[in-house]
Amino acid sequence: MNFELKTLDLKAATSHASDALIVLVAADFKPATDAVSRLITEARASGDLDATPAKLLSIWRAPGLAAPRVVLVSVGEGSARLVRQAVSAAVTTLKAVAPKKITICLPDGTQQRLQAAAQAVADASYVYTTTKPSAKAAALKRVVLALPTAEKTKNAKPDFELARAQVAGVSLAKEWGNRPANYATPTHLAQVAKDLGKKSGIHCQVLGPKEIEKLGMGSFAAVARGSVEPLRFIVLQYSGAAKSVAPTVLVGKGITFDTGGISLKPGPGMDEMKFDMCGAASVLGTFEALSHLKPAINVVGLIPTCENMPDGTALKPGDVVTSMSGQTIEVLNTDAEGRLILCDALTYAARFKPRAVIDIATLTGACVISLGHVRSGLFSPSDDLANALFAAGEAALDPCWRLPLDEEYAEGLKSNFADVANVAGREGGSITAAKFLQRFAKDYPWAHLDIAGSAWKSGAAKGATGRPVGLLLQYLLTTQAKKKAA
Ligand code: BES
Ligand code: MN
Ligand code: ZN
Repeated sequence: MNFELKTLDLKAATSHASDALIVLVAADFKPATDAVSRLITEARASGDLDATPAKLLSIWRAPGLAAPRVVLVSVGEGSARLVRQAVSAAVTTLKAVAPKKITICLPDGTQQRLQAAAQAVADASYVYTTTKPSAKAAALKRVVLALPTAEKTKNAKPDFELARAQVAGVSLAKEWGNRPANYATPTHLAQVAKDLGKKSGIHCQVLGPKEIEKLGMGSFAAVARGSVEPLRFIVLQYSGAAKSVAPTVLVGKGITFDTGGISLKPGPGMDEMKFDMCGAASVLGTFEALSHLKPAINVVGLIPTCENMPDGTALKPGDVVTSMSGQTIEVLNTDAEGRLILCDALTYAARFKPRAVIDIATLTGACVISLGHVRSGLFSPSDDLANALFAAGEAALDPCWRLPLDEEYAEGLKSNFADVANVAGREGGSITAAKFLQRFAKDYPWAHLDIAGSAWKSGAAKGATGRPVGLLLQYLLTTQAKKKAA
């Protein structure tokens, strides 16, 4: 999908050639004398254009308009959230006629609104085709985001680039999240990373079982043991700043299928555990976006990836494994495997002397119970890091919510046979999981995002969301802006 930023006021929009013209109509809309303004005024007066946000009116071959279809859509007071909702409704309405080019007239080009509009178009027109030959690929090729004045267009240019990069990153994360586990093995994910490594500024290294054993990642290796698919440990490095600039490290959980292992999960809904690599996908997506934007920062991506399978060789409940940190872990439940692969990656992360480490994981069902599908869980002992990530989530419409890390929550992780157990009780399950990870992230500022509820949708709309690429990108670029100002 190709995005363009253009100056078009409503008068210019009347003669602009496009398969469909989408006009966002704010509550305080002031009509001019052009044909589109007239349409809006009349539609409002007649009651055909409801002022409720996302209510719309489709018009076919309106007199005096070059575009054969016009969709007028109310956007209330015009917040980014409402822009997203309105654009999504308009693009969905147009799906049946499969436009190749659409033009969206935005009242304003703030970063948030541009991001919201671009992401909404991409999300609403996305069609998964990789393993579904009968699905008709999206026809939409060109999207023009139009602003009313040349000055607004000029000012919006950097934000437009960010929006475009975010869409590319989210698309990659979504696509790999959606691919079935037999089309998205650890080896496949490593190939995606290697392809990213061919882009300028990005370096990629992929480690296999032998190297992992040598590094002493006994916890990660133990999870992979029950599968015939070999594990991979992906190390991506984006270098946009001098070597002396400490990087931010992103660690993504890459369980390409989670059966639970010997602590087998129940059958219904187990297919959704193909999404258990969405943390990894979000790291890959963020690197894709970085390759477009080339910001002056350094970022490292670490992805431990394997399957969690039951087998004669698989890890058993009660087994004790030795992590790279030297801490031994009693595996009371083989279904708590995410933390077992992440802990070794967190230990590995220290070698980059990072300014911050953020892990992203579909870690616990408990997080879905606490926060549902709206906000990701955010955990960090650092107020600064937590606040920055929270703010980034708000700005990118990819929100998260901070949960506590009191020491008392670690109580249940005590073990008689190892330094730590991999599970505590059912209560506060997302917090005890975070407490487990925290033991391995002592050497740098650290945050953990539990995306179990936000990474994909279930039911009729089953599919990956590409979250939290928006949040991560926003966070990385905001820290960059701060550095420039200093
Ligand atoms: N990948 C799952 C978490 C998950 C479950 C995400 C459902 C989204 C929906 C994770 O590996 C897991 O199985 N966690 C267990 C932990 C438990 C055994 C302490 C869980 O949440 O049930
Ligand atoms: Mn599991
Ligand atoms: Zn899992």
